[in-house]
Amino acid sequence: MNANAHAAIGVFDSGLGGLSVLRAIREVLPAEDLLYLADSGYAPYGDRDEAFIVARSMAMCDFLVRQGAKAIVVACNTATVVAARQLRERFNVPIVAMEPAIKPAVELTRSKVVGVLATSRTVASPAVATLVERHGQGVDIRLQACPGLVTQVEKGDLDGPHTRELLAQYLAPLREAGADTLVLGCTHYPFLLPVIQEMVGPSVTIVESAAAVAREVVRRTAHLRHPLHGQRDGETRFFTTADVADARLRMSALWDSVADVQPVPMAT
Ligand code: DGL
Repeated sequence: MNANAHAAIGVFDSGLGGLSVLRAIREVLPAEDLLYLADSGYAPYGDRDEAFIVARSMAMCDFLVRQGAKAIVVACNTATVVAARQLRERFNVPIVAMEPAIKPAVELTRSKVVGVLATSRTVASPAVATLVERHGQGVDIRLQACPGLVTQVEKGDLDGPHTRELLAQYLAPLREAGADTLVLGCTHYPFLLPVIQEMVGPSVTIVESAAAVAREVVRRTAHLRHPLHGQRDGETRFFTTADVADARLRMSALWDSVADVQPVPMAT
Protein backbone atom coordinates (compact mmCIF):
# COMPACT_ATOMS: atom_id res chain seq x y z
CA MET A 1 0.00 0.00 0.00
CA ASN A 2 1.22 3.51 -0.78
CA ALA A 3 2.21 5.38 2.41
CA ASN A 4 -0.09 8.24 1.44
CA ALA A 5 -3.19 6.11 0.85
CA HIS A 6 -4.91 7.24 4.07
CA ALA A 7 -4.43 10.92 3.24
CA ALA A 8 -7.16 13.18 1.88
CA ILE A 9 -7.62 14.59 -1.61
CA GLY A 10 -7.45 18.40 -1.58
CA VAL A 11 -9.77 20.47 -3.76
CA PHE A 12 -9.60 24.25 -4.16
CA ASP A 13 -11.36 27.03 -6.02
CA SER A 14 -11.38 30.81 -5.88
CA GLY A 15 -14.54 30.38 -3.84
CA LEU A 16 -17.63 28.22 -3.69
CA GLY A 17 -17.84 27.16 -7.35
CA GLY A 18 -15.56 24.19 -6.84
CA LEU A 19 -18.28 22.63 -4.67
CA SER A 20 -19.86 21.61 -8.00
CA VAL A 21 -16.70 19.61 -8.69
CA LEU A 22 -16.47 18.32 -5.10
CA ARG A 23 -20.01 16.92 -5.52
CA ALA A 24 -18.93 14.92 -8.59
CA ILE A 25 -15.77 13.66 -6.84
CA ARG A 26 -17.73 12.61 -3.75
CA GLU A 27 -20.11 10.62 -5.95
CA VAL A 28 -17.36 8.50 -7.49
CA LEU A 29 -15.05 8.30 -4.45
CA PRO A 30 -17.32 7.83 -1.41
CA ALA A 31 -14.58 6.42 0.83
CA GLU A 32 -11.96 9.12 0.33
CA ASP A 33 -11.47 11.97 2.78
CA LEU A 34 -11.80 15.30 0.98
CA LEU A 35 -10.53 18.75 1.92
CA TYR A 36 -12.28 21.70 0.28
CA LEU A 37 -10.55 25.08 0.33
CA ALA A 38 -12.48 28.15 -0.83
CA ASP A 39 -10.39 31.26 -1.47
CA SER A 40 -13.51 33.39 -1.09
CA GLY A 41 -11.50 36.09 0.68
CA TYR A 42 -9.82 36.72 -2.68
CA ALA A 43 -12.61 35.86 -5.17
CA PRO A 44 -13.22 36.48 -7.96
CA TYR A 45 -9.97 35.51 -9.69
CA GLY A 46 -11.37 35.96 -13.17
CA ASP A 47 -10.87 39.71 -13.46
CA ARG A 48 -7.41 39.72 -11.85
CA ASP A 49 -3.98 39.61 -13.50
CA GLU A 50 -2.01 36.41 -13.99
CA ALA A 51 0.57 37.08 -11.25
CA PHE A 52 -2.22 37.38 -8.68
CA ILE A 53 -3.91 34.15 -9.82
CA VAL A 54 -0.61 32.23 -9.82
CA ALA A 55 0.27 33.51 -6.33
CA ARG A 56 -3.14 32.61 -4.89
CA SER A 57 -3.14 29.17 -6.56
CA MET A 58 0.35 28.48 -5.15
CA ALA A 59 -0.83 29.53 -1.67
CA MET A 60 -3.89 27.26 -1.95
CA CYS A 61 -1.81 24.22 -2.99
CA ASP A 62 0.78 24.97 -0.35
CA PHE A 63 -1.91 24.95 2.34
CA LEU A 64 -3.44 21.69 1.08
CA VAL A 65 -0.05 19.98 0.89
CA ARG A 66 0.70 21.13 4.45
CA GLN A 67 -2.63 19.54 5.47
CA GLY A 68 -1.24 16.30 4.04
CA ALA A 69 -3.22 16.14 0.77
CA LYS A 70 -2.14 13.18 -1.39
CA ALA A 71 -3.47 14.81 -4.57
CA ILE A 72 -4.88 18.20 -5.52
CA VAL A 73 -7.82 19.11 -7.72
CA VAL A 74 -7.80 22.61 -9.19
CA ALA A 75 -11.60 23.02 -9.24
CA CYS A 76 -11.33 26.34 -11.05
CA ASN A 77 -11.03 26.89 -14.80
CA THR A 78 -9.39 30.28 -14.31
CA ALA A 79 -6.67 28.95 -12.00
CA THR A 80 -6.15 26.04 -14.39
CA VAL A 81 -5.64 28.07 -17.55
CA VAL A 82 -3.35 30.52 -15.78
CA ALA A 83 -1.45 28.46 -13.20
CA ALA A 84 -1.70 24.67 -13.76
CA ARG A 85 1.73 24.41 -15.36
CA GLN A 86 3.49 26.27 -12.51
CA LEU A 87 1.59 24.23 -9.90
CA ARG A 88 2.70 20.98 -11.51
CA GLU A 89 6.28 22.20 -11.58
CA ARG A 90 6.23 23.23 -7.92
CA PHE A 91 4.26 20.47 -6.16
CA ASN A 92 5.11 16.85 -5.93
CA VAL A 93 1.58 15.37 -5.76
CA PRO A 94 -0.77 14.53 -8.65
CA ILE A 95 -2.56 17.71 -9.75
CA VAL A 96 -5.84 17.30 -11.63
CA ALA A 97 -7.11 20.45 -13.32
CA MET A 98 -10.17 21.59 -15.29
CA GLU A 99 -10.78 22.67 -18.82
CA PRO A 100 -13.98 24.02 -20.37
CA ALA A 101 -15.91 21.14 -22.00
CA ILE A 102 -15.42 22.44 -25.55
CA LYS A 103 -14.62 19.03 -27.04
CA PRO A 104 -17.83 17.31 -25.85
CA ALA A 105 -19.86 20.38 -26.86
CA VAL A 106 -18.48 20.23 -30.40
CA GLU A 107 -19.51 16.56 -30.56
CA LEU A 108 -23.04 17.41 -29.39
CA THR A 109 -23.94 20.50 -31.42
CA ARG A 110 -26.24 20.12 -34.41
CA SER A 111 -26.50 23.82 -35.23
CA LYS A 112 -22.68 23.98 -35.37
CA VAL A 113 -22.71 26.95 -33.00
CA VAL A 114 -21.41 26.49 -29.45
CA GLY A 115 -21.44 29.15 -26.73
CA VAL A 116 -18.84 29.12 -23.96
CA LEU A 117 -19.59 31.01 -20.74
CA ALA A 118 -16.47 31.68 -18.64
CA THR A 119 -14.57 34.33 -16.73
CA SER A 120 -12.79 37.13 -18.62
CA ARG A 121 -9.41 35.61 -17.80
CA THR A 122 -10.41 32.14 -19.06
CA VAL A 123 -11.93 33.52 -22.27
CA ALA A 124 -8.74 35.47 -23.02
CA SER A 125 -6.37 32.59 -22.24
CA PRO A 126 -4.08 30.88 -24.75
CA ALA A 127 -5.21 27.55 -23.24
CA VAL A 128 -8.78 28.14 -24.41
CA ALA A 129 -7.58 29.38 -27.82
CA THR A 130 -5.72 26.07 -28.17
CA LEU A 131 -8.83 24.06 -27.25
CA VAL A 132 -10.87 25.96 -29.84
CA GLU A 133 -8.23 25.42 -32.49
CA ARG A 134 -7.85 21.73 -31.66
CA HIS A 135 -11.52 20.76 -31.39
CA GLY A 136 -13.47 23.53 -33.09
CA GLN A 137 -13.05 22.67 -36.77
CA GLY A 138 -16.25 23.37 -38.65
CA VAL A 139 -17.98 24.80 -35.57
CA ASP A 140 -18.53 28.43 -34.67
CA ILE A 141 -17.38 28.67 -31.05
CA ARG A 142 -18.48 31.88 -29.34
CA LEU A 143 -16.56 32.74 -26.17
CA GLN A 144 -18.58 34.88 -23.77
CA ALA A 145 -16.93 36.53 -20.74
CA CYS A 146 -19.36 36.82 -17.83
CA PRO A 147 -18.02 39.36 -15.29
CA GLY A 148 -20.13 39.55 -12.16
CA LEU A 149 -21.59 36.03 -12.21
CA VAL A 150 -19.01 34.54 -9.82
CA THR A 151 -19.81 37.29 -7.31
CA GLN A 152 -23.54 36.51 -7.56
CA VAL A 153 -22.90 32.84 -6.75
CA GLU A 154 -20.53 33.81 -3.91
CA LYS A 155 -23.35 35.95 -2.49
CA GLY A 156 -25.78 33.04 -2.79
CA ASP A 157 -27.91 34.92 -5.31
CA LEU A 158 -28.64 32.07 -7.71
CA ASP A 159 -31.77 33.41 -9.38
CA GLY A 160 -32.47 36.96 -8.24
CA PRO A 161 -33.16 39.89 -10.59
CA HIS A 162 -29.53 41.02 -10.93
CA THR A 163 -28.32 37.47 -11.64
CA ARG A 164 -31.03 37.09 -14.28
CA GLU A 165 -30.16 40.46 -15.77
CA LEU A 166 -26.49 39.50 -16.13
CA LEU A 167 -27.41 36.12 -17.61
CA ALA A 168 -29.82 37.70 -20.09
CA GLN A 169 -27.07 40.04 -21.24
CA TYR A 170 -24.51 37.22 -21.66
CA LEU A 171 -26.88 34.68 -23.20
CA ALA A 172 -28.45 37.04 -25.77
CA PRO A 173 -25.57 37.10 -28.30
CA LEU A 174 -25.16 33.33 -28.05
CA ARG A 175 -28.85 32.71 -28.70
CA GLU A 176 -28.86 35.19 -31.56
CA ALA A 177 -25.89 33.37 -33.09
CA GLY A 178 -27.91 30.12 -32.98
CA ALA A 179 -25.97 28.25 -30.28
CA ASP A 180 -27.73 24.98 -29.43
CA THR A 181 -25.01 23.90 -26.97
CA LEU A 182 -23.59 25.90 -24.07
CA VAL A 183 -20.44 25.16 -22.12
CA LEU A 184 -20.29 26.23 -18.48
CA GLY A 185 -16.58 27.09 -18.40
CA CYS A 186 -16.46 28.21 -14.78
CA THR A 187 -17.17 25.97 -11.81
CA HIS A 188 -19.46 28.55 -10.21
CA TYR A 189 -21.92 28.43 -13.12
CA PRO A 190 -23.38 24.92 -12.56
CA PHE A 191 -25.16 26.45 -9.57
CA LEU A 192 -26.92 28.73 -12.08
CA LEU A 193 -27.84 25.84 -14.37
CA PRO A 194 -31.57 25.72 -13.52
CA VAL A 195 -32.04 29.41 -14.30
CA ILE A 196 -29.84 29.25 -17.42
CA GLN A 197 -31.82 26.26 -18.71
CA GLU A 198 -35.07 28.08 -17.97
CA MET A 199 -33.84 31.13 -19.91
CA VAL A 200 -32.56 29.30 -22.99
CA GLY A 201 -35.26 26.62 -23.10
CA PRO A 202 -35.08 22.84 -23.24
CA SER A 203 -33.75 22.63 -26.81
CA VAL A 204 -30.34 23.97 -25.72
CA THR A 205 -27.91 21.42 -24.27
CA ILE A 206 -25.73 22.61 -21.39
CA VAL A 207 -22.45 20.87 -20.67
CA GLU A 208 -19.91 21.18 -17.87
CA SER A 209 -16.75 19.37 -16.83
CA ALA A 210 -17.30 18.18 -13.25
CA ALA A 211 -18.04 14.53 -14.04
CA ALA A 212 -15.09 14.29 -16.44
CA VAL A 213 -12.76 15.82 -13.84
CA ALA A 214 -14.04 13.39 -11.20
CA ARG A 215 -13.25 10.47 -13.55
CA GLU A 216 -9.78 11.91 -14.05
CA VAL A 217 -9.33 12.14 -10.26
CA VAL A 218 -10.24 8.44 -9.99
CA ARG A 219 -7.70 7.57 -12.67
CA ARG A 220 -4.86 9.74 -11.34
CA THR A 221 -5.27 8.60 -7.72
CA ALA A 222 -5.80 4.88 -8.41
CA HIS A 223 -2.43 4.04 -6.83
CA LEU A 224 -3.36 6.08 -3.74
CA ARG A 225 -6.80 4.58 -3.10
CA HIS A 226 -7.89 4.51 0.56
CA PRO A 227 -7.36 0.95 1.90
CA LEU A 228 -10.94 0.81 3.21
CA HIS A 229 -12.39 1.75 -0.17
CA GLY A 230 -15.91 0.30 -0.29
CA GLN A 231 -16.09 -0.09 3.51
CA ARG A 232 -16.22 3.47 4.87
CA ASP A 233 -17.74 6.89 4.24
CA GLY A 234 -15.04 9.49 3.74
CA GLU A 235 -15.09 12.77 5.65
CA THR A 236 -15.31 16.17 3.98
CA ARG A 237 -13.62 19.12 5.69
CA PHE A 238 -14.12 22.72 4.62
CA PHE A 239 -11.72 25.67 4.80
CA THR A 240 -12.09 29.30 3.77
CA THR A 241 -10.02 32.47 3.53
CA ALA A 242 -13.19 34.52 4.14
CA ASP A 243 -15.24 34.96 7.30
CA VAL A 244 -16.03 31.46 8.65
CA ALA A 245 -19.57 32.09 9.88
CA ASP A 246 -20.47 33.63 6.56
CA ALA A 247 -18.77 30.81 4.65
CA ARG A 248 -20.65 28.17 6.65
CA LEU A 249 -23.93 29.81 5.78
CA ARG A 250 -23.14 30.12 2.09
CA MET A 251 -21.58 26.67 1.75
CA SER A 252 -24.56 25.08 3.49
CA ALA A 253 -26.82 26.51 0.79
CA LEU A 254 -24.79 24.66 -1.86
CA TRP A 255 -23.74 21.50 0.03
CA ASP A 256 -26.05 19.64 2.36
CA SER A 257 -23.70 18.69 5.19
CA VAL A 258 -21.29 21.49 6.06
CA ALA A 259 -20.73 20.81 9.76
CA ASP A 260 -17.82 23.13 10.26
CA VAL A 261 -15.65 25.53 8.27
CA GLN A 262 -12.13 26.23 9.40
CA PRO A 263 -10.37 29.52 8.81
CA VAL A 264 -7.22 29.85 6.73
CA PRO A 265 -5.27 33.03 7.43
CA MET A 266 -5.59 35.46 4.51
CA ALA A 267 -1.85 35.77 4.12
CA THR A 268 -1.04 32.10 3.37
N1 DGL B 1 -14.77 28.95 -10.31
C1 DGL B 1 -13.78 29.73 -11.02
C2 DGL B 1 -13.62 29.19 -12.43
O1 DGL B 1 -13.92 28.04 -12.67
C3 DGL B 1 -14.15 31.17 -10.91
C4 DGL B 1 -12.98 32.07 -11.07
C5 DGL B 1 -13.20 33.43 -10.46
O2 DGL B 1 -13.08 33.54 -9.25
O3 DGL B 1 -13.44 34.37 -11.23
O4 DGL B 1 -13.17 29.87 -13.32
